[in-house]
Amino acid sequence: MDDEKIVANYGFYGESLILLEGAITEVITRIDIIRRYIKIKGFRDPIEHVKTRIKSEESMKEKLIRKGLAPTCENAVTKVYDAAGIRVICTFVDDVYRIVELLKSQQDIKIIEEKDYISNPKPSGYRSFHLIIKVPIHLPKGIRYVNAEIQIRTIAMDCWASLEHEMRYKKDVPNTELIAGELKRCADEIASTDLTLQAIRDMIDSEGTGGHK
Ligand code: GTP
Ligand code: MG
Repeated sequence: MDDEKIVANYGFYGESLILLEGAITEVITRIDIIRRYIKIKGFRDPIEHVKTRIKSEESMKEKLIRKGLAPTCENAVTKVYDAAGIRVICTFVDDVYRIVELLKSQQDIKIIEEKDYISNPKPSGYRSFHLIIKVPIHLPKGIRYVNAEIQIRTIAMDCWASLEHEMRYKKDVPNTELIAGELKRCADEIASTDLTLQAIRDMIDSEGTGGHK
């Protein structure tokens, strides 16, 4: 994260920013080790890239008020789970589930909730796997479990979600119903293409071209 963002967020989160950044660093490191391990074993890297963010003050306050909570730092860090967010972009759908299982098997991470919006897409067409977790952070006073949300999805799902998010916040858009319908159709087509790509990869792999390389 760049210095400007740290300074901007410091005002609202105060010292808790250290916890949120700690949680993000912790998750990134674990994902990095999973990737290195898979690669050193000679398999294909299942991850395209990882993005992280600390929820902005404005968007966090809006969320807390929407949930009927006072817009305080304390509530931001303890009552909601996405002040620290990590997004893992995978190549294929089965890579998403593989990463989910590898993260879930880490004994010191507490899994609070799993949301499989791939098997159960949102009405908008949104697909992604969400892991709501608590990560242990070692402080001088002892261990503190910090809330974080990990969103794991394919490149295609990510592309759709970014575009849809951008359009959702555009004001005064005409034909919103028509657009929502088209976006939903597009999401379903993307899901189908994701599965086809995975099937093609399996065909190529079974041709004896060197497995998952
Ligand atoms: P908020 O939506 O953040 O209030 O959280 P929630 O408790 O309702 O959880 P939910 O699982 O619905 O959404 C968590 C996050 O998933 C959101 O903050 C978005 O990043 C993402 N998300 C959920 N639904 C959609 C959607 O329809 N479109 C897009 N682009 N992103 C979505
Ligand atoms: Mg929501």
